[in-house]
Amino acid sequence: MTATLWAEMLIRPLADTEPIPYGLLLDADPSKELVDLYLAQSEAYVVEYRNAVIGIYLLCPVGPESMEIKNIAVAVGFQAKGIGQWMLYDAMEKAKQRACNEILIGTSSTSIGPLYLYQKVGFEVSHIIHNFFLEHYSEPLFDHGLHCKHMIVLKKVI
Ligand code: ACO
Repeated sequence: MTATLWAEMLIRPLADTEPIPYGLLLDADPSKELVDLYLAQSEAYVVEYRNAVIGIYLLCPVGPESMEIKNIAVAVGFQAKGIGQWMLYDAMEKAKQRACNEILIGTSSTSIGPLYLYQKVGFEVSHIIHNFFLEHYSEPLFDHGLHCKHMIVLKKVI
């Protein structure tokens, strides 16, 4: 991505008055019920580019010194340009500002791309929540043809 495009992007909080970008949120997590639950508990940050929202992440307190990125998504035409990585570093910075010493993120064991990205920026596998996707979703989920069953939770000390 060119320097000009980067110069036109910013990460900012999602305002209470603006529409919730469900298209992006549901791309990361198809359960509207869970998305709404996480939205209610989290700070939402969006990437804005030329007055359009092209990325989002939700940062949720999960302990006195711990926050979790509950959802992260980039609009299809803007993926694979480094924006996801930028949001992950921004989330780490925000969690640090809130006196946290660790940040978590969870995804399906079948989500190879996100698992690569999270480890690339320094997250390490913390634990596995077995059968998370079987127990929390009414419909079976598939990723690259693989049945999503278990959640891998990764953690980074910040
Ligand atoms: N498949 C393969 N590689 C990937 C993928 C993927 N799905 N996503 C990221 N990567 C790799 C990139 O190739 C890149 O590698 P490189 O630096 O070695 O070239 C690196 O990770 C950085 O990628 P970014 O460009 O920063 O990632 P992007 O801006 O595309 O954002 C994201 C990543 C958020 C996963 C995006 O692809 C997306 O919105 N996907 C759909 C929604 C989704 O799956 N969200 C995550 C669900 S888990 C959760 O929300 C906690």
